Amino acid sequence: MLNDLSPIIVTGGAGFIGSNFVLEWLQAVGTPVVNVDKLTYAGNLGNLGKISADARYTFVHGDIGDRKLVGDLLGRCRPRAIVHFAAESHVDRSIHGPDDFVRTNVNGTFSLLEEARAYWTELGQEEKWRFRFLHVSTDEVYGSLGANDAAFSETTAYSPNSPYSATKAASDHLVRAYHHTYGMPVLTTNCSNNYGPYQFPEKLIPLMILNALDGKPLPVYGDGMNVRDWLFVEDHCSAIRAVLSNGRIGQTYNIGGNSERANIDVVTAICDLVDEMRPRAGARARRELISYVKDRPGHDRRYAINAAKLASELAWQPSAEFEAGLRKTVRWYLDNSAWVESVRSGAYLEWINKNYTERVSL
Ligand code: NAD
Ligand code: DAU
Repeated sequence: MLNDLSPIIVTGGAGFIGSNFVLEWLQAVGTPVVNVDKLTYAGNLGNLGKISADARYTFVHGDIGDRKLVGDLLGRCRPRAIVHFAAESHVDRSIHGPDDFVRTNVNGTFSLLEEARAYWTELGQEEKWRFRFLHVSTDEVYGSLGANDAAFSETTAYSPNSPYSATKAASDHLVRAYHHTYGMPVLTTNCSNNYGPYQFPEKLIPLMILNALDGKPLPVYGDGMNVRDWLFVEDHCSAIRAVLSNGRIGQTYNIGGNSERANIDVVTAICDLVDEMRPRAGARARRELISYVKDRPGHDRRYAINAAKLASELAWQPSAEFEAGLRKTVRWYLDNSAWVESVRSGAYLEWINKNYTERVSL
């Protein structure tokens, strides 16, 4: 019989947001979690080291596209919910090689939905009523805003511009269709840019922190005036918990931080924090490491989230103010050099060469 003490299955729980979610879930909720992760370059069991011996936590190494593995797991664990994070998540990588994005984000989500549907269909009436499939998605599905456009709401038309956002949009549509056609109890969240501990240093904030620390160039794409709406990862996790507990079935909820910042302002703030926390006697200020480089093809200009629905229906608000969250994040990367070294392997260096050598300074 499924009840509130039944496990939840998290996919992609060894990635940045997934691992923060699993760690927080065990603290905040405390019921069992099963984490299915393929451990791609972005998955790191080191993120979950402190709970590896926790009896409430189980790790399963697997691909969400492996129907047999997922089907068997659902039958064995009998989860009350699936929280679906697993994805290829980096826009620049999707430009260099979209195949994995289609495979995991589209086909993988489809396989997961099919197995979840088979499991859910066989549940008893009350168990069926309790079950939830929560799909974690992105604001990038809505495309790009102009400087004076209203922020994205749940009714903004989809207009994805990168292979990454196109595959996330496709997965959102599949999830929606499984509710509309089969009545599956799904929820979708579309969130803005996250930052915080355990983010793989291919994304803007950790890349800039580590380059600044090492005295390396800070590659700002284009004119540096693209705007993102930043959310501290803990706030994303609390929003997902709120939607999972009380979100209305079949609905989508936008999640954002009310913290729009131009990239150049984020990078200069990082420079100043690193200068303050790791001063270099006689060396140049880190701001002088900033180097404007060739733009990302199809680079979305601005994202901004209107999270009023989440605030009014579920009383959720972001708790971290951006400057305080950024300070905490810089501190975390400085204090966790062993983690940093463990993720900066040969494969990481290959990616850095591939993405940045052709990007000559402007
Ligand atoms: P991430 O790249 O850090 O982690 C992805 C995880 O998924 C990794 O652990 C990886 O091993 C795993 N994975 C990849 N393919 C898999 C497969 N086929 N089967 C099983 N596991 C697989 O990503 P993230 O930044 O933590 O993002 C998590 C989710 O949140 C994604 O769905 C992303 O689209 C969404 N999202 C991210 C952000 C952000 O700012 N990072 C914002 C909004 C939404
Ligand atoms: O909006 C949510 C999305 O945010 C998530 O769905 C994605 O998974 C996540 O990767 C993120 O996408 P972005 O493309 O916005 O994040 P990224 O950190 O790659 O880039 C942030 C901004 O910084 C973007 O305008 C590009 C710019 N940038 C990025 C890198 C890596 C640079 O100027 N230089 C860089 O080296």
